[in-house]
Amino acid sequence: MKEQESENSGAQASEKPAGPPQDLKDMNDLVSLAKRRGFAFQSSEVYGGINACWDYGPLGAELKRNVKDVWWRTMTDRMDIEGIDAAILMHPKVWEASGHVAGFSDPLVDCKNCKARFRADKIDLTQFKPGQCPSCEKFGTLTEPRNFNLMFKTHMGPLEDSASIVYLRPETAQGIYVNFLNVQQSARQKVPFGIAQIGKAFRNEITPGNFIFRTREFEQMEMQYFVKPGTDEDWFEKWKAARIQWHLDLGIRKDKLRFHAHGPGELAHYAKAAFDIEYLFPFGWQELEGIHNRSDFDLGQHQKFSGKKLEYFDETVKERYVPYIVETSVGCDRFLLVSLVDAYRSDGDRVWLQLHPKLSPYKVAIYPLMKKPELMEFSDKLFNDVRKKYRATTDEAGSIGKRYRRQDEIGTPFGVTVDYDTVSNGTVTIRHRDSMAQERIPADKLVSYIEDKFENWGK
Ligand code: GAP
Repeated sequence: MKEQESENSGAQASEKPAGPPQDLKDMNDLVSLAKRRGFAFQSSEVYGGINACWDYGPLGAELKRNVKDVWWRTMTDRMDIEGIDAAILMHPKVWEASGHVAGFSDPLVDCKNCKARFRADKIDLTQFKPGQCPSCEKFGTLTEPRNFNLMFKTHMGPLEDSASIVYLRPETAQGIYVNFLNVQQSARQKVPFGIAQIGKAFRNEITPGNFIFRTREFEQMEMQYFVKPGTDEDWFEKWKAARIQWHLDLGIRKDKLRFHAHGPGELAHYAKAAFDIEYLFPFGWQELEGIHNRSDFDLGQHQKFSGKKLEYFDETVKERYVPYIVETSVGCDRFLLVSLVDAYRSDGDRVWLQLHPKLSPYKVAIYPLMKKPELMEFSDKLFNDVRKKYRATTDEAGSIGKRYRRQDEIGTPFGVTVDYDTVSNGTVTIRHRDSMAQERIPADKLVSYIEDKFENWGK
Protein backbone atom coordinates (compact mmCIF):
# COMPACT_ATOMS: atom_id res chain seq x y z
CA MET A 1 0.00 0.00 0.00
CA LYS A 2 2.80 2.36 0.93
CA GLU A 3 4.57 1.87 -2.41
CA GLN A 4 1.29 2.25 -4.27
CA GLU A 5 0.73 5.56 -2.51
CA SER A 6 4.14 6.89 -3.39
CA GLU A 7 3.68 5.77 -6.99
CA ASN A 8 0.37 7.54 -7.30
CA SER A 9 1.70 10.66 -5.67
CA GLY A 10 3.77 11.05 -8.80
CA ALA A 11 7.39 11.07 -9.74
CA GLN A 12 8.14 14.22 -7.86
CA ALA A 13 8.32 12.56 -4.44
CA SER A 14 11.74 13.92 -3.50
CA GLU A 15 14.74 11.73 -2.75
CA LYS A 16 17.41 12.37 -0.17
CA PRO A 17 21.00 11.11 -0.19
CA ALA A 18 21.64 8.55 2.56
CA GLY A 19 25.09 10.02 3.18
CA PRO A 20 27.98 11.84 1.51
CA PRO A 21 29.10 10.31 -1.80
CA GLN A 22 31.94 7.81 -1.50
CA ASP A 23 34.40 6.80 -4.23
CA LEU A 24 35.07 3.23 -5.30
CA LYS A 25 37.28 1.53 -2.71
CA ASP A 26 37.13 -2.12 -3.67
CA MET A 27 37.54 -3.16 -7.32
CA ASN A 28 35.30 -6.19 -6.62
CA ASP A 29 32.31 -3.84 -6.27
CA LEU A 30 32.92 -2.56 -9.80
CA VAL A 31 33.58 -6.02 -11.24
CA SER A 32 30.31 -7.33 -9.82
CA LEU A 33 28.35 -4.30 -11.06
CA ALA A 34 29.95 -4.71 -14.48
CA LYS A 35 28.90 -8.32 -14.66
CA ARG A 36 25.41 -7.89 -13.17
CA ARG A 37 24.52 -4.99 -15.46
CA GLY A 38 26.19 -6.27 -18.63
CA PHE A 39 29.30 -4.11 -18.97
CA ALA A 40 31.87 -6.92 -19.00
CA PHE A 41 31.96 -10.69 -18.59
CA GLN A 42 34.93 -12.97 -18.30
CA SER A 43 35.71 -14.45 -21.72
CA SER A 44 34.54 -18.07 -22.20
CA GLU A 45 32.98 -18.01 -18.74
CA VAL A 46 30.98 -21.21 -19.26
CA TYR A 47 34.31 -23.04 -19.64
CA GLY A 48 35.70 -21.52 -16.47
CA GLY A 49 37.03 -18.44 -18.26
CA ILE A 50 40.35 -17.66 -19.93
CA ASN A 51 42.79 -15.57 -17.98
CA ALA A 52 43.04 -11.85 -18.75
CA CYS A 53 40.49 -11.80 -21.58
CA TRP A 54 37.14 -10.05 -21.18
CA ASP A 55 33.99 -9.75 -23.26
CA TYR A 56 31.99 -6.53 -23.29
CA GLY A 57 28.24 -6.96 -22.81
CA PRO A 58 25.51 -4.69 -24.20
CA LEU A 59 26.33 -1.70 -21.97
CA GLY A 60 30.09 -2.21 -22.14
CA ALA A 61 30.04 -2.40 -25.92
CA GLU A 62 28.07 0.85 -26.04
CA LEU A 63 30.41 2.57 -23.58
CA LYS A 64 33.44 1.37 -25.53
CA ARG A 65 31.97 2.65 -28.78
CA ASN A 66 31.40 6.04 -27.14
CA VAL A 67 35.02 6.13 -25.90
CA LYS A 68 36.31 5.34 -29.37
CA ASP A 69 33.98 7.82 -31.06
CA VAL A 70 35.05 10.68 -28.77
CA TRP A 71 38.75 9.91 -29.26
CA TRP A 72 38.38 9.47 -33.03
CA ARG A 73 36.48 12.74 -33.42
CA THR A 74 38.98 14.60 -31.24
CA MET A 75 41.81 13.45 -33.46
CA THR A 76 40.37 13.33 -36.95
CA ASP A 77 38.20 16.47 -36.77
CA ARG A 78 41.54 18.30 -36.97
CA MET A 79 42.62 19.05 -40.52
CA ASP A 80 46.19 17.95 -39.71
CA ILE A 81 45.30 14.39 -38.62
CA GLU A 82 44.23 11.49 -40.84
CA GLY A 83 42.78 8.18 -39.64
CA ILE A 84 43.76 4.69 -40.79
CA ASP A 85 42.84 1.08 -40.01
CA ALA A 86 45.85 -1.18 -40.59
CA ALA A 87 46.00 -5.01 -40.47
CA ILE A 88 46.83 -6.79 -37.21
CA LEU A 89 49.18 -9.19 -39.00
CA MET A 90 52.23 -7.50 -40.50
CA HIS A 91 55.42 -8.57 -42.25
CA PRO A 92 57.63 -10.25 -39.59
CA LYS A 93 60.49 -7.88 -40.45
CA VAL A 94 58.41 -5.02 -39.02
CA TRP A 95 58.94 -6.45 -35.54
CA GLU A 96 62.66 -6.91 -36.11
CA ALA A 97 62.95 -3.30 -37.23
CA SER A 98 60.82 -1.99 -34.38
CA GLY A 99 63.00 -3.74 -31.81
CA HIS A 100 60.18 -5.95 -30.51
CA VAL A 101 61.75 -9.30 -31.50
CA ALA A 102 64.95 -8.49 -29.63
CA GLY A 103 63.70 -6.25 -26.88
CA PHE A 104 59.98 -6.53 -26.12
CA SER A 105 60.38 -8.76 -23.13
CA ASP A 106 59.89 -8.75 -19.39
CA PRO A 107 62.15 -10.49 -16.86
CA LEU A 108 60.25 -13.59 -15.73
CA VAL A 109 60.87 -15.52 -12.51
CA ASP A 110 59.13 -18.72 -11.31
CA CYS A 111 58.65 -19.90 -7.74
CA LYS A 112 60.30 -23.31 -7.39
CA ASN A 113 57.73 -24.22 -4.73
CA CYS A 114 54.28 -22.98 -5.85
CA LYS A 115 55.20 -22.48 -9.56
CA ALA A 116 53.63 -18.99 -9.66
CA ARG A 117 55.21 -16.59 -12.19
CA PHE A 118 56.16 -12.98 -11.60
CA ARG A 119 57.77 -10.07 -13.33
CA ALA A 120 61.06 -9.76 -11.49
CA ASP A 121 61.00 -5.97 -11.82
CA LYS A 122 57.55 -5.70 -10.20
CA ILE A 123 58.29 -7.56 -6.95
CA ASP A 124 58.17 -5.15 -4.04
CA LEU A 125 61.61 -5.48 -2.46
CA THR A 126 60.55 -3.40 0.54
CA GLN A 127 58.34 -6.35 1.52
CA PHE A 128 60.15 -9.41 0.18
CA LYS A 129 63.76 -10.53 0.21
CA PRO A 130 65.40 -10.84 -3.22
CA GLY A 131 64.71 -14.30 -4.61
CA GLN A 132 61.78 -14.94 -2.26
CA CYS A 133 58.32 -15.81 -3.62
CA PRO A 134 55.84 -13.02 -2.78
CA SER A 135 52.79 -15.25 -2.91
CA CYS A 136 53.43 -18.74 -1.57
CA GLU A 137 53.10 -19.69 2.06
CA LYS A 138 56.47 -21.44 2.20
CA PHE A 139 58.37 -18.38 0.86
CA GLY A 140 59.74 -20.58 -1.95
CA THR A 141 62.84 -19.52 -3.83
CA LEU A 142 62.59 -17.91 -7.23
CA THR A 143 64.47 -18.93 -10.37
CA GLU A 144 66.95 -16.53 -11.97
CA PRO A 145 65.16 -14.01 -14.24
CA ARG A 146 64.71 -15.09 -17.86
CA ASN A 147 63.66 -12.73 -20.62
CA PHE A 148 60.19 -13.59 -21.84
CA ASN A 149 59.05 -12.05 -25.13
CA LEU A 150 55.52 -10.71 -24.83
CA MET A 151 54.53 -11.10 -28.47
CA PHE A 152 52.03 -13.80 -29.45
CA LYS A 153 53.35 -15.88 -32.33
CA THR A 154 51.36 -17.73 -34.92
CA HIS A 155 51.94 -19.17 -38.39
CA MET A 156 50.74 -17.80 -41.69
CA GLY A 157 49.76 -20.37 -44.31
CA PRO A 158 49.64 -24.15 -44.02
CA LEU A 159 53.26 -24.79 -42.90
CA GLU A 160 54.11 -24.38 -39.24
CA ASP A 161 57.83 -23.76 -39.77
CA SER A 162 60.08 -20.91 -38.72
CA ALA A 163 59.70 -19.22 -42.12
CA SER A 164 55.95 -18.85 -41.60
CA ILE A 165 56.06 -17.15 -38.18
CA VAL A 166 53.98 -13.99 -37.86
CA TYR A 167 53.10 -12.01 -34.74
CA LEU A 168 49.89 -10.55 -33.41
CA ARG A 169 50.81 -6.87 -33.20
CA PRO A 170 51.73 -5.77 -29.66
CA GLU A 171 51.04 -2.10 -30.53
CA THR A 172 49.13 -0.44 -33.35
CA ALA A 173 51.84 2.18 -33.93
CA GLN A 174 53.89 0.18 -36.44
CA GLY A 175 50.95 0.01 -38.88
CA ILE A 176 51.12 3.80 -38.94
CA TYR A 177 54.89 4.08 -39.44
CA VAL A 178 55.00 1.75 -42.42
CA ASN A 179 52.13 3.72 -44.01
CA PHE A 180 53.65 7.13 -43.33
CA LEU A 181 54.37 7.98 -46.99
CA ASN A 182 51.19 6.31 -48.30
CA VAL A 183 49.09 8.54 -46.07
CA GLN A 184 51.16 11.69 -46.50
CA GLN A 185 51.04 11.45 -50.28
CA SER A 186 47.47 10.20 -50.75
CA ALA A 187 46.01 12.75 -48.30
CA ARG A 188 48.43 15.48 -49.53
CA GLN A 189 49.45 16.33 -45.97
CA LYS A 190 52.42 18.48 -45.11
CA VAL A 191 54.64 17.99 -42.06
CA PRO A 192 53.63 18.56 -39.27
CA PHE A 193 50.70 16.18 -39.48
CA GLY A 194 49.41 13.13 -37.63
CA ILE A 195 47.96 9.69 -38.27
CA ALA A 196 45.44 8.20 -35.83
CA GLN A 197 44.38 4.62 -35.43
CA ILE A 198 42.21 2.51 -33.12
CA GLY A 199 42.74 -1.23 -33.08
CA LYS A 200 43.45 -4.45 -31.24
CA ALA A 201 46.84 -5.23 -29.77
CA PHE A 202 48.01 -8.40 -28.06
CA ARG A 203 50.59 -8.99 -25.33
CA ASN A 204 51.30 -12.20 -23.51
CA GLU A 205 51.52 -10.34 -20.20
CA ILE A 206 53.16 -12.19 -17.30
CA THR A 207 51.07 -10.51 -14.63
CA PRO A 208 47.77 -9.42 -16.12
CA GLY A 209 44.91 -8.49 -13.84
CA ASN A 210 42.86 -5.92 -11.98
CA PHE A 211 39.85 -6.61 -14.16
CA ILE A 212 40.38 -4.95 -17.58
CA PHE A 213 43.42 -2.95 -16.42
CA ARG A 214 46.02 -5.26 -17.93
CA THR A 215 44.74 -7.86 -20.37
CA ARG A 216 46.31 -9.99 -23.06
CA GLU A 217 44.02 -8.71 -25.80
CA PHE A 218 43.14 -5.03 -25.72
CA GLU A 219 42.51 -2.02 -27.92
CA GLN A 220 44.77 0.97 -28.32
CA MET A 221 43.96 4.46 -29.54
CA GLU A 222 47.24 5.77 -30.91
CA MET A 223 48.19 8.91 -32.76
CA GLN A 224 51.62 9.49 -34.31
CA TYR A 225 52.46 13.10 -35.09
CA PHE A 226 55.23 13.63 -37.67
CA VAL A 227 57.29 16.77 -37.13
CA LYS A 228 60.43 18.46 -38.38
CA PRO A 229 63.48 17.53 -36.26
CA GLY A 230 64.16 20.36 -33.86
CA THR A 231 60.46 21.13 -33.38
CA ASP A 232 59.81 17.81 -31.60
CA GLU A 233 60.25 19.11 -28.05
CA ASP A 234 57.69 21.85 -28.62
CA TRP A 235 55.19 19.40 -30.09
CA PHE A 236 55.82 16.99 -27.24
CA GLU A 237 54.76 19.68 -24.75
CA LYS A 238 51.71 20.60 -26.87
CA TRP A 239 50.54 17.00 -27.02
CA LYS A 240 51.09 16.46 -23.31
CA ALA A 241 48.82 19.43 -22.57
CA ALA A 242 46.20 18.40 -25.15
CA ARG A 243 46.00 14.85 -23.90
CA ILE A 244 45.56 15.59 -20.21
CA GLN A 245 42.90 18.14 -21.16
CA TRP A 246 41.05 15.42 -23.09
CA HIS A 247 40.69 13.34 -19.92
CA LEU A 248 39.58 16.39 -17.92
CA ASP A 249 37.02 17.32 -20.58
CA LEU A 250 35.50 13.87 -20.19
CA GLY A 251 34.99 14.56 -16.50
CA ILE A 252 37.94 12.62 -15.06
CA ARG A 253 38.80 14.34 -11.78
CA LYS A 254 41.89 16.50 -11.81
CA ASP A 255 43.20 15.28 -8.46
CA LYS A 256 43.18 11.70 -9.75
CA LEU A 257 45.42 12.50 -12.73
CA ARG A 258 49.11 13.27 -12.80
CA PHE A 259 52.12 13.13 -15.12
CA HIS A 260 54.95 10.76 -14.50
CA ALA A 261 58.22 11.41 -16.35
CA HIS A 262 60.18 8.32 -17.38
CA GLY A 263 63.69 8.35 -15.94
CA PRO A 264 66.64 7.03 -18.00
CA GLY A 265 66.16 3.46 -16.67
CA GLU A 266 62.46 3.43 -17.60
CA LEU A 267 62.62 4.81 -21.14
CA ALA A 268 61.51 2.39 -23.87
CA HIS A 269 64.17 1.56 -26.49
CA TYR A 270 62.56 3.95 -28.98
CA ALA A 271 61.99 6.96 -26.75
CA LYS A 272 63.95 10.18 -26.47
CA ALA A 273 61.52 11.37 -23.78
CA ALA A 274 58.35 9.88 -22.31
CA PHE A 275 55.62 10.92 -19.91
CA ASP A 276 52.78 8.81 -18.63
CA ILE A 277 49.45 10.23 -17.66
CA GLU A 278 48.69 8.27 -14.50
CA TYR A 279 45.38 7.72 -12.73
CA LEU A 280 44.86 7.04 -9.03
CA PHE A 281 43.08 3.65 -9.04
CA PRO A 282 41.94 1.95 -5.80
CA PHE A 283 45.16 -0.10 -6.27
CA GLY A 284 47.41 2.95 -6.60
CA TRP A 285 48.77 5.32 -9.27
CA GLN A 286 49.03 3.51 -12.61
CA GLU A 287 49.64 4.36 -16.25
CA LEU A 288 46.63 5.48 -18.28
CA GLU A 289 48.29 6.93 -21.37
CA GLY A 290 51.81 7.31 -22.73
CA ILE A 291 53.15 10.35 -24.60
CA HIS A 292 56.47 9.63 -26.27
CA ASN A 293 59.03 11.55 -28.24
CA ARG A 294 60.16 8.69 -30.49
CA SER A 295 62.66 10.82 -32.44
CA ASP A 296 63.44 9.42 -35.92
CA PHE A 297 63.96 5.95 -34.46
CA ASP A 298 60.96 4.25 -36.05
CA LEU A 299 61.12 5.67 -39.56
CA GLY A 300 64.91 5.28 -39.47
CA GLN A 301 64.61 1.60 -38.54
CA HIS A 302 62.00 0.89 -41.22
CA GLN A 303 64.19 2.59 -43.82
CA LYS A 304 67.09 0.41 -42.76
CA PHE A 305 65.20 -2.88 -42.69
CA SER A 306 63.04 -2.33 -45.79
CA GLY A 307 65.65 -0.57 -47.89
CA LYS A 308 63.00 2.03 -48.87
CA LYS A 309 63.33 5.75 -48.22
CA LEU A 310 60.84 7.10 -45.68
CA GLU A 311 61.77 10.74 -46.03
CA TYR A 312 59.66 13.82 -46.34
CA PHE A 313 60.45 16.47 -48.95
CA ASP A 314 59.57 19.99 -47.92
CA GLU A 315 58.76 21.76 -51.21
CA THR A 316 58.86 25.25 -49.78
CA VAL A 317 62.48 25.11 -48.59
CA LYS A 318 63.58 22.19 -50.83
CA GLU A 319 64.67 20.21 -47.80
CA ARG A 320 64.57 16.43 -47.32
CA TYR A 321 64.47 14.78 -43.87
CA VAL A 322 63.22 11.84 -41.81
CA PRO A 323 60.53 13.30 -39.53
CA TYR A 324 60.56 12.91 -35.77
CA ILE A 325 57.48 11.36 -34.18
CA VAL A 326 55.53 12.43 -31.13
CA GLU A 327 53.19 9.63 -30.09
CA THR A 328 50.11 9.65 -27.89
CA SER A 329 48.97 6.16 -26.91
CA VAL A 330 46.04 5.32 -24.68
CA GLY A 331 44.40 1.95 -24.08
CA CYS A 332 40.73 2.07 -24.96
CA ASP A 333 39.95 -0.56 -22.31
CA ARG A 334 42.26 1.23 -19.86
CA PHE A 335 40.40 4.51 -20.36
CA LEU A 336 37.06 2.70 -20.15
CA LEU A 337 38.15 1.31 -16.77
CA VAL A 338 39.21 4.78 -15.60
CA SER A 339 35.86 6.21 -16.70
CA LEU A 340 34.02 3.59 -14.61
CA VAL A 341 36.29 3.82 -11.57
CA ASP A 342 36.19 7.62 -11.60
CA ALA A 343 32.41 7.72 -12.08
CA TYR A 344 31.56 5.21 -9.37
CA ARG A 345 29.79 6.74 -6.34
CA SER A 346 27.81 5.29 -3.46
CA ASP A 347 26.09 6.93 -0.51
CA GLY A 348 25.32 3.82 1.51
CA ASP A 349 21.96 3.34 -0.17
CA ARG A 350 22.37 4.31 -3.79
CA VAL A 351 25.14 3.44 -6.28
CA TRP A 352 25.49 5.63 -9.33
CA LEU A 353 27.94 6.14 -12.17
CA GLN A 354 28.62 9.82 -12.61
CA LEU A 355 29.68 9.28 -16.24
CA HIS A 356 30.07 12.17 -18.65
CA PRO A 357 26.99 12.06 -20.91
CA LYS A 358 29.22 11.59 -23.97
CA LEU A 359 30.19 8.24 -22.46
CA SER A 360 26.92 7.07 -20.86
CA PRO A 361 25.48 4.04 -22.68
CA TYR A 362 22.01 5.62 -22.42
CA LYS A 363 21.43 9.36 -22.28
CA VAL A 364 17.86 9.23 -21.05
CA ALA A 365 15.32 6.73 -19.67
CA ILE A 366 11.57 7.17 -20.08
CA TYR A 367 9.23 5.77 -17.44
CA PRO A 368 5.44 5.59 -17.61
CA LEU A 369 4.41 5.95 -13.95
CA MET A 370 2.04 3.00 -14.33
CA LYS A 371 1.28 0.51 -17.07
CA LYS A 372 -1.97 2.25 -18.01
CA PRO A 373 -2.81 2.61 -21.73
CA GLU A 374 -3.05 6.42 -21.66
CA LEU A 375 0.36 6.71 -19.93
CA MET A 376 1.98 4.03 -22.10
CA GLU A 377 0.78 5.70 -25.28
CA PHE A 378 2.28 9.04 -24.27
CA SER A 379 5.52 7.52 -23.02
CA ASP A 380 5.98 5.32 -26.13
CA LYS A 381 5.59 8.36 -28.34
CA LEU A 382 8.01 10.40 -26.23
CA PHE A 383 10.53 7.55 -26.26
CA ASN A 384 10.33 7.28 -30.05
CA ASP A 385 10.80 11.03 -30.44
CA VAL A 386 13.76 11.24 -28.06
CA ARG A 387 15.60 8.21 -29.44
CA LYS A 388 15.82 9.85 -32.86
CA LYS A 389 18.44 12.09 -31.29
CA TYR A 390 19.67 10.35 -28.13
CA ARG A 391 20.19 6.73 -27.21
CA ALA A 392 17.30 6.10 -24.85
CA THR A 393 15.73 3.26 -22.89
CA THR A 394 12.44 2.59 -21.12
CA ASP A 395 11.59 0.85 -17.88
CA GLU A 396 8.08 0.01 -16.76
CA ALA A 397 8.79 -2.45 -13.94
CA GLY A 398 8.66 -1.69 -10.19
CA SER A 399 8.35 1.50 -8.20
CA ILE A 400 9.66 4.68 -9.76
CA GLY A 401 12.38 4.80 -7.09
CA LYS A 402 13.66 1.36 -8.09
CA ARG A 403 13.65 2.38 -11.73
CA TYR A 404 15.71 5.47 -10.95
CA ARG A 405 18.21 3.29 -9.06
CA ARG A 406 18.57 0.86 -11.95
CA GLN A 407 19.47 3.68 -14.34
CA ASP A 408 21.71 5.44 -11.78
CA GLU A 409 23.81 2.29 -11.56
CA ILE A 410 24.52 2.32 -15.30
CA GLY A 411 25.10 6.06 -15.52
CA THR A 412 21.99 7.31 -17.37
CA PRO A 413 22.09 11.09 -16.78
CA PHE A 414 18.34 11.77 -17.02
CA GLY A 415 15.13 9.93 -16.15
CA VAL A 416 11.78 11.19 -17.44
CA THR A 417 8.47 10.19 -15.88
CA VAL A 418 5.14 10.31 -17.64
CA ASP A 419 2.21 10.58 -15.18
CA TYR A 420 -1.41 11.69 -15.23
CA ASP A 421 -0.47 15.36 -15.23
CA THR A 422 1.46 14.67 -18.42
CA VAL A 423 -1.72 13.50 -20.13
CA SER A 424 -3.68 16.56 -18.97
CA ASN A 425 -1.08 19.34 -19.38
CA GLY A 426 1.77 17.86 -21.47
CA THR A 427 4.50 18.21 -18.81
CA VAL A 428 6.89 15.51 -17.57
CA THR A 429 9.19 15.18 -14.57
CA ILE A 430 12.87 15.12 -15.44
CA ARG A 431 15.15 13.75 -12.75
CA HIS A 432 18.92 14.32 -12.63
CA ARG A 433 21.15 11.32 -11.88
CA ASP A 434 23.84 13.11 -9.87
CA SER A 435 21.82 15.54 -7.72
CA MET A 436 18.52 13.60 -7.79
CA ALA A 437 16.88 17.02 -8.38
CA GLN A 438 13.57 16.95 -10.23
CA GLU A 439 11.99 19.50 -12.51
CA ARG A 440 8.73 19.70 -14.39
CA ILE A 441 9.15 20.62 -18.04
CA PRO A 442 6.96 20.52 -21.17
CA ALA A 443 7.38 17.13 -22.87
CA ASP A 444 7.80 18.78 -26.26
CA LYS A 445 10.83 20.69 -24.92
CA LEU A 446 12.57 17.53 -23.66
CA VAL A 447 15.06 17.14 -26.52
CA SER A 448 16.13 20.78 -26.47
CA TYR A 449 16.35 20.67 -22.65
CA ILE A 450 18.73 17.68 -22.79
CA GLU A 451 20.70 19.26 -25.62
CA ASP A 452 21.24 22.40 -23.54
CA LYS A 453 22.27 20.43 -20.42
CA PHE A 454 24.74 18.30 -22.39
CA GLU A 455 26.29 21.31 -24.07
CA ASN A 456 26.84 22.96 -20.71
CA TRP A 457 27.82 19.80 -18.82
CA GLY A 458 30.38 20.48 -16.09
CA LYS A 459 30.37 24.25 -16.73
N1 GAP B 1 52.95 2.44 -28.98
C1 GAP B 1 53.39 2.70 -27.66
C2 GAP B 1 52.87 1.77 -26.69
O1 GAP B 1 52.26 0.76 -27.02
P1 GAP B 1 52.67 1.32 -24.12
O2 GAP B 1 52.98 2.24 -22.95
O3 GAP B 1 53.26 -0.04 -24.12
O4 GAP B 1 53.10 2.15 -25.40
C3 GAP B 1 50.30 2.33 -24.43
O5 GAP B 1 51.10 1.19 -24.24
C4 GAP B 1 48.99 2.22 -23.68
O6 GAP B 1 48.32 1.00 -24.03
C5 GAP B 1 49.14 2.13 -22.14
O7 GAP B 1 49.28 3.42 -21.59
C6 GAP B 1 47.85 1.47 -21.76
O8 GAP B 1 46.80 2.42 -21.72
C7 GAP B 1 47.60 0.51 -22.92
N2 GAP B 1 48.05 -0.86 -22.60
C8 GAP B 1 49.30 -1.36 -22.73
N3 GAP B 1 49.34 -2.65 -22.35
C9 GAP B 1 48.10 -2.99 -22.01
C10 GAP B 1 47.48 -4.19 -21.55
N4 GAP B 1 48.17 -5.32 -21.40
N5 GAP B 1 46.16 -4.17 -21.27
C11 GAP B 1 45.43 -3.04 -21.44
N6 GAP B 1 45.95 -1.89 -21.88
C12 GAP B 1 47.26 -1.85 -22.17
